[in-house]
Amino acid sequence: MTQSTSTPAPHLLLGSCDYPEHVPQDRWAAYAQQQKELGLTFVRIAEFAWSRMEPRPGEYDWSWLDTAIDAYHAAGMRVVLCTPTATPPAWLIRAHPEILPVDAQGRVREFGARRHYDFASPVYREHSRRITRAMAERYGGHPAVAGWQTDNEFGCHNTSRSYGGASAAAFPGWLERRYGTLDALNAAWGNVFWSMEYTAWEQIKPPNLTVAEPNPSHVLDFYRFASDMIAGFQAEQVAILRELSPGRFVTHNFMIFEMGFDHYDVARGLDFVTWDNYPLGMLEFFAPPGSGEDVKTHFARTGHPDLIAFNHDLYRGLLGRKNALGRDGQGTPNGPWVMEQQCGQVNWAPFNPLPADGAVQLWTAQAWAHGADVVSYFRWRAATMAQEVMHSGLLRHDETPDRGFAEVAGLDTTQFPVGGVPAKVAVLHDYDSLWLYDEQKHSASLSYWTQTLAYYSALRALGVDVDVIHADADLSGYAVIVAPAITLVPQQRAAHWTAAVKGGARLVCGPRTAFRTPGGETWADGQFGPLSELVGARLLQYDSLRPTLSQHVTGDGGTFEAHAWAESYRVKGAETLYTYSGGPLDGQSAVIRHGNVTVIGAHSSELIGTVLAGVLAEADVATTPLPGGVRLSRRAGRTLLQNWNPERVEWNGQMLEPVSFTVLEDAVLESAHA
Ligand code: GAL
Repeated sequence: MTQSTSTPAPHLLLGSCDYPEHVPQDRWAAYAQQQKELGLTFVRIAEFAWSRMEPRPGEYDWSWLDTAIDAYHAAGMRVVLCTPTATPPAWLIRAHPEILPVDAQGRVREFGARRHYDFASPVYREHSRRITRAMAERYGGHPAVAGWQTDNEFGCHNTSRSYGGASAAAFPGWLERRYGTLDALNAAWGNVFWSMEYTAWEQIKPPNLTVAEPNPSHVLDFYRFASDMIAGFQAEQVAILRELSPGRFVTHNFMIFEMGFDHYDVARGLDFVTWDNYPLGMLEFFAPPGSGEDVKTHFARTGHPDLIAFNHDLYRGLLGRKNALGRDGQGTPNGPWVMEQQCGQVNWAPFNPLPADGAVQLWTAQAWAHGADVVSYFRWRAATMAQEVMHSGLLRHDETPDRGFAEVAGLDTTQFPVGGVPAKVAVLHDYDSLWLYDEQKHSASLSYWTQTLAYYSALRALGVDVDVIHADADLSGYAVIVAPAITLVPQQRAAHWTAAVKGGARLVCGPRTAFRTPGGETWADGQFGPLSELVGARLLQYDSLRPTLSQHVTGDGGTFEAHAWAESYRVKGAETLYTYSGGPLDGQSAVIRHGNVTVIGAHSSELIGTVLAGVLAEADVATTPLPGGVRLSRRAGRTLLQNWNPERVEWNGQMLEPVSFTVLEDAVLESAHA
């Protein structure tokens, strides 16, 4: 059942990623025409085409790109043009091998694939500016060019950090600017431990190849440094594009769960954020918290709804609240996009199943409901050469329409109006916390993402819409703020959260919240450092549980079994809601509450869900408990109801078909629950 309004409001637009340089020129006009007929509006091109734009140093050949862009223009397509800096050509690398990055094992990463450059390389920076300027001078004012994508997927193939060459040379200077004196750096890193104190800046290297694990403070600053290099690299391109291509948007296509840089810093300066959504490949790498092979098998042909939804919500929030709210004067969407949407099988996971029938439509609908203004499929035609021949496209290798094409053709996008996502719940996220947490996980069962996802997933299972936002972002308007794994809480952040709680918001924190200082040490007065007063407690003990150990937790909601992690608290004003029993934490506080602040110390999806449900109810946030694989998301006055399961599911008096969705007017859903 699909309901649409009589006057179609601005709605979701579609696109695809095309590679004219991969096919004979006589195909270009036909492809553009076919894309238009399929209902696509945008085409993204040229992100890997440097060797064709500049075959020899300084010798540009724009003729083919002129023809390609004109062909799209003639068909009425709008072009997203990319700077080609993900693929510096052979002539440049052989002339300047110092551009190449160095991996954590100290090996130079060679030419012959992509992303073979060090963001800190002054030589590469110069060439990046040069090719960007040349492209922008040529196409900045072209009527078909709607906007720009910088580079392609920063961080892909583990390329955020280079552990030698230009990065190693630039790191000490970056530290000197940050700390001023070596005394300050030695103190901040705690270098007295194991005699790691430095007496000259040049002594400091990247934190790789150490005998035992490197100092986490050293690691944290190296990650911050590498992230700064990426932000600086991109900012140079953005400045040139702004100068020479006024009125066009500038964006970047971020990756699923990428961890190598601070996405908030790198996104600053872009008009909107885009990301690349590969639900099946992703599931091979990121199992939902607490799940095993059975869950991967169950969702093998759709991907897991919450893993994908989290990324949508994360990217929607990367630029704060200036997102997803309409069109500019030329009808260009301002909200986040999915720049690459899987539309068949991928080639890069250990296993690469075909999507279920209906999955491409399901993914598109979900993207819309989570704020996307455009979904652009990867790729138009399957590649017939090189690394990605096993990957699918909307067209098969032989140019016949593949299954994804049929699903796109069958979509009615007018049922997907653009507009805001009405979230009353915020999940807080921060890359410094991620880096610190993962550097000292203390449990092979845990990571920053698994802990964060446990809370996010519990919220989605309650049918609640969520904004994922930075831990220092504007918190006004949120009824419930959840900080699942923000281990780094400086004074200012503690003050910011305290103000939100004083303003009436409820705060729920996971284990290890406010454990560490901005330098990466622990607070000298223990967890919760500057948050202690607000929480009304101190950390007592933490217990890392091997997979065969568990810990009972009992309170008003019943008894739960905690796995992986259990920490207990010494209350100083807070009340104890749940208590540990059995094991070394017997009788100690597991879940505590101090006014509007709740801390959950143990890992158990059921416990987290139960505690969150109670807090949401108190905060008057409506919840709708959902069966596994059934999800609700709201946008622009409508509700998307989805069944991600490979079988029919009965829910709320209706039968949901496998891998299907329905767009409902909000009123319909609310009355169904009345
Ligand atoms: C993305 C990348 C594309 C292509 C695609 C294949 O990560 O941006 O260029 O490689 O994966 O799934």
